[in-house]
Amino acid sequence: MTSTVLSPLSPRITGFPFPFRTDTYRYSTNVEPARAPVVTEAGGWGGAILDVDDEYADELAQRERVLTADPSRLTVLPHMRPACWDALRTLLRELADLYPDRMELRRDGDHFVWRNDLLGVEQRFRDGDDDSLPGGPLGFLGSQIQDDIVLLDQRDGSLWADAGLVTFAADWSLRFDVGMRFLEVHGPVPRVHEEGVIARAERFLMRLEPGQEYRRTNWTMSVDRRLDQSTETYPEWGRDRRLVAEAPADELANRLHLRVEVQHLIRLGASGAVLFLIRTYMVSLAELAQVPAWRTRFGRVLAELPDDMAEYKGLTRFRGAAADWLLTS
Ligand code: HEM
Repeated sequence: MTSTVLSPLSPRITGFPFPFRTDTYRYSTNVEPARAPVVTEAGGWGGAILDVDDEYADELAQRERVLTADPSRLTVLPHMRPACWDALRTLLRELADLYPDRMELRRDGDHFVWRNDLLGVEQRFRDGDDDSLPGGPLGFLGSQIQDDIVLLDQRDGSLWADAGLVTFAADWSLRFDVGMRFLEVHGPVPRVHEEGVIARAERFLMRLEPGQEYRRTNWTMSVDRRLDQSTETYPEWGRDRRLVAEAPADELANRLHLRVEVQHLIRLGASGAVLFLIRTYMVSLAELAQVPAWRTRFGRVLAELPDDMAEYKGLTRFRGAAADWLLTS
């Protein structure tokens, strides 16, 4: 008798937030309460707001390189300083609660002491004093969590994207968007304005009470595991979208990735700002295909996706080849 020994799935696959619940995908105001664990065909995700995984040190090193090359990825309009401190305190506490053996936030008079054994960091800082932390509150926060961060101010009946640390944008630019209204930020997205998706989302966010936490997912595709796909660096990554479409099947399956963002939306208690966290996960088509249900579903989603959505997401050149590989190879 012969038996097949299947190699265990890697944590990258077992923890992957596979986003499709049906064989078609359309935009919607897809929000749900945060912290609810999701079981997938390969494992699960979503039990906590933050998630330190195997890519932690590598992704934080990438962020530092991107920021050094382009400091505008961290932009804070002056009135958002209290919101940055609020975000820092909230998320360092969150990390310490999640990993009590490795991390601790201790108060010491008007100072805090932050310890993160995973990075070998011990940092003392004074609450509210930007100069007491490397990078200020938002820069330091971005050196401890893998998520990109945007902070929105609520005034004059709108939300304004007035601060952020975004080094892993999927084809947009913080420098361009900072200071814009929520509606303007979403200006380039097809369909959502006519369908009222963005106006509804903004009304929902403006009604959030202090401490309320929601999440949603968003997805696109990318060539290779490149996190920084900001508009500013388009010349470095845009060309690969064309080249990969002509690559042999093996190369296509290893280089093309499904890129999923788990986005959290949290009303901060002290400042009243809305905290928007964007955590990016990627698996190659070859990895995805290790889970047969995902392979078929993503193939069908790609094949059915309307042209305007595929174009906006930058998939036009290779989505046919990707769907073929997933569904027929
Ligand atoms: C419930 C809340 C939200 C909904 C329903 C929503 C919806 C969407 C959708 C459908 C897209 C197109 C994504 C794609 O096809 O790849 C998008 C893109 C985007 N969203 Fe949101 N979003 C929400 C919250 C936010 C927040 C709080 C921000 C913070 C500023 C934000 C910033 C962006 C940006 C920068 C883009 C890319 C726009 C571009 O192409 O320039 N979103 N959003």
